[in-house]
Parts: sequence; C-alpha cells; structure tokens
Amino acid sequence: MNILLTGAAGYIGSHVARLLQQSGHEVFGADDLSTGFATRFDGKIEHVDLASADAVEALKAVFLANQIEAVVHLAARKQVGESVQKPEWYYLQNIGGLANLLTAMRETRVQKLLFSSSAAVYGMPEAQIITEDIHCQPINPYGETKLIGEWMVADAGKAWGLNHVSLRYFNVAGAGWEDLADTAVANLIPIAFAAIRAGEPVRVFGDDYPTDDGSCVRDYIHVLDLAEAHKSALEYLDQANREHSVFNVGTGTGASVFEVLAAIKEQTGVDFEVSIEPRRAGDPPKLCADVNRIQSTLNWQAENDLESIVASAWLAK
Ligand code: UFG
Repeated sequence: MNILLTGAAGYIGSHVARLLQQSGHEVFGADDLSTGFATRFDGKIEHVDLASADAVEALKAVFLANQIEAVVHLAARKQVGESVQKPEWYYLQNIGGLANLLTAMRETRVQKLLFSSSAAVYGMPEAQIITEDIHCQPINPYGETKLIGEWMVADAGKAWGLNHVSLRYFNVAGAGWEDLADTAVANLIPIAFAAIRAGEPVRVFGDDYPTDDGSCVRDYIHVLDLAEAHKSALEYLDQANREHSVFNVGTGTGASVFEVLAAIKEQTGVDFEVSIEPRRAGDPPKLCADVNRIQSTLNWQAENDLESIVASAWLAK
C-alpha cells in the first residue's frame, strides 16, 4: 500500500515507518522536523508544518504524485506540561493540523486514516483497568486535542465515508532498532537514564499511592509492539465491516515506578540513588489498558516485556 506517514522523523514515527517498509509497504514521510530527525527515515520527507496555511495544497500534491491510499497520522505536539502552558498553540497545531490533513484527504479522495491517539483521553479514571468504552475526561489540553481528534476523524467518517481507526497509546518506551532511541527525555525511562548518566539520583514522584509498593503504576508498551499494532490496524482498515474504530494499545499489565527502576538496575548493571519526591500533580495511581478489544479484533498483542523495553532503550542512540 502507498502510505503517507506524518511525523515520520519522530521516535514512534520512525519505528512505524521502518516496520511498514519491511512489510512491503511504500512509505512517504511528512514532518516539520521541529523535534524529529530526517536521518531516522529511509526515504523522502515532505517538510511541512501541517497547521500552516499552505499545508492543504502541499499534502494534496503529495497524495496525487504518489497515489497515496492511506495516511498514518502521528505528527503532533505531545508534552502534557507544555500543553497546559500554551493551550492555544496545542489546539492550533494538533487540531488545525488534523483539519488541514482531513481537508486534503477529502479533496483527493484518500479514504483511509490511522490516527495516533493517547491514553491521555481518559484523564483520571476511577477504573484502574481501562476499557475503550469508559467516559473520556481528559485533564489537560494535550489529552483534549487527542479526544477532539478522534471526534474529527469519526465525523469525517460520517460525512464523506472516511475509513478510520484511532489507537490510544499507553506508555510507549524502548527501541526496536539501536539507531531509533527516544531522545526526548520527557518520560520516566529516558529521564532515569539521563539522571544515571549524569550521576544524579532518579526521582520518584510519590511513594504513598494506594498501590502495592506505593509508587504509580503504568502500562509500558514496547515501541516495536506499538508499530506492529499500526500494521495490524492498517490491515483492519481494509476490511469492509469494521465493528470498532478505537483501540487501546498496551500490554494489559502494569509496572510501578519502583519496578521500572529495579528493571533498569538489573538490565544496565548500574546501581544508582533514588530520591523520593512529592507526588506530581495530575498523576493517577494506576493506569492500565484493557486489551481485550485489540486482541480479539486486530489479533494483536504485545510480545515484549518490561525487561526488553528497558534493555533496548539503554542500548539505543
Ligand atoms: N515519574 C517519576 N519520576 C520521573 C518521571 C516520571 O516518578 O522522573 C513517574 C510519574 O509520576 C508517573 C510515571 O513515572 O507515575 C510515568 O510518568 P511519565 O511522565 O513517563 O508518563 P505519564 O504516565 O505521565 O504519561 C505518558 C505520556 C503521556 C500520555 C500518557 C498516557 O507522557 O503523553 O502516558 O498514559 F498521555
């Protein structure tokens, strides 16, 4: 299939691109290169800010020149804290960018879209194992833009027959190839690695949560498993009758911050100090995906455990 992948130069995008290419798909990239690196993607990248005034025409030209059949849309701003500080910019970028993309798709009759969503759409749910059907109540502009994005693609489905799937990623980490590290230092594992390499203690935000060891539990999903989920979802988009359009992507098993740090000590062989800090605002005690829907509908499940996530992340550059 000829696919346009937005965010192709990013950490997740480059994994999705490489896996799809190895599976025989023709992948064309689009990226504004604000946080990504063109060298991560083996192919041509259309340098475009999707939220810019000329994005619709630029995208239409790419669609027509390359007979694009499907779009995998990953390009977005994704820092929760920054989204609280600059909400208008997050709406402009994530919602404006998606509106331009949908406009270009509609005008060139590109009918298939895989949308990158997030567990951030759930907010602070009471349930600890989260099914796709619970009421979504995001607690920050980042999560809001992802939920609105899901609504936009669903509305395009109703209005002009867009075939769409949204994947709600849980905590993505690890590396599928050694040259595709998560360089952002924005999440627990890269933050811990940066602290360890600087000889500083790793901070644990709260050890008094109502969990087994008192630290927060999250569902860590290997980025290569996540990329495989995109491959399965693209095949699903080809089916005539699709029962679902929203899927959690996680393992279904949680790991606490202390368990992640223990895995890091074991996999790296480095002993490091841990400092217990106050709770971070807005952290739910436990967030874990119910993965029944994706397992039974897309026939996908995660293969990699926490140890392989940590080991692969440590080796990657
Ligand atoms: N944590 C620490 N110390 C740190 C960094 C994080 O203890 O130095 C803890 C956090 O408090 C949290 C856990 O590690 O309990 C994971 O934190 P991350 O910041 O890595 O991830 P979050 O679960 O907060 O959020 C991530 C993504 C979001 C996405 C969400 C979906 O960053 O974009 O998962 O579940 F929306």
